[in-house]
Amino acid sequence: MLTVEHLTKRFGANTAVDRASFTVDRPMMIGIIGRSGAGKSTFLRMMNRLTDATEGRLLFEGRDVLQLKGAEKRGWQSDCAMIFQQFNLVPRMDVVSNVLHGTLARRGTLATMFNLYPREDIHRAIDILERLGIAAHAAKRAEALSGGQQQRVAIARALMQDPKVILADEPIASLDPMNAQLVMDSLRRIHDEDGRTVIANLHTLDTARRYCDRVIGMRDGRIVFDGTPAQLTTGVARDIYGAGADFSENATSTEIRDPVATAIIRAAEVAV
Ligand SMILES: Nc1ncnc2c1ncn2[C@@H]1O[C@H](COP(=O)(O)OP(=O)(O)OP(=O)(O)O)[C@@H](O)[C@H]1O
Ligand SMILES: [Mg+2]
Repeated sequence: MLTVEHLTKRFGANTAVDRASFTVDRPMMIGIIGRSGAGKSTFLRMMNRLTDATEGRLLFEGRDVLQLKGAEKRGWQSDCAMIFQQFNLVPRMDVVSNVLHGTLARRGTLATMFNLYPREDIHRAIDILERLGIAAHAAKRAEALSGGQQQRVAIARALMQDPKVILADEPIASLDPMNAQLVMDSLRRIHDEDGRTVIANLHTLDTARRYCDRVIGMRDGRIVFDGTPAQLTTGVARDIYGAGADFSENATSTEIRDPVATAIIRAAEVAV
């Protein structure tokens, strides 16, 4: 259903994503991992057409979505919803209106300007909020909700588009562990119950292992691992996070050089 071929993004001399290829042949929950700057966000942004690819193709149900323009491009962006680390809600607007914004891609400008929504859309928005356990907050301003609640509003807004694919860029990076779990549980349930493909950039191995059927590891713009959580061994984690040869010297110096990579690899060792 989804084939990415040699997807590449160059910013001047810097290749942010380098000939990335993979195929999704059935709905899956996929985690993308890799250290800061590996190209994870750029990869998702190209998929959603928020940024143009330098080279490559992205075939979805037989069409190259990177070639789409105008209404067809917006149609793809509606089929492929995006969730961000910082939620990207309108803070002063109420929760239901934020969710209804998910229908923007297919509504006219005038109706949007005057906030005119069909009754059935409003009912659907409330149903989705109920499903995510936050209907009680429907009338509050988005800014009055906790981070975890706001991220679930963002997921509700995505669902309002009835997307086939949900892309999530570090959806839990700003949340405490309890809210992170609620948000990941919601994404997993949406995948299990609706059969939607979820592709999420995740900053910890542990989350990728726990929630995803498949993990893609990126390093320096390239896909260096593509497999199941069980195949994601400590050695593979070292490859992805790039501590490699340095890591064997001694833990203390590695820690000083790269505390994040060290913490991630430690977590992998505990989990293996
Ligand atoms: N708009 C831009 N202009 C120039 N360079 C960019 C731009 N966006 C990203 N880059 C570069 O592309 C590379 C990949 O960045 P990207 O944001 O995709 O990484 P990431 O894996 O999402 O990192 P993080 O984990 O920190 O979010 C980096 O070297 C970054 O500096
Ligand atoms: Mg990123």
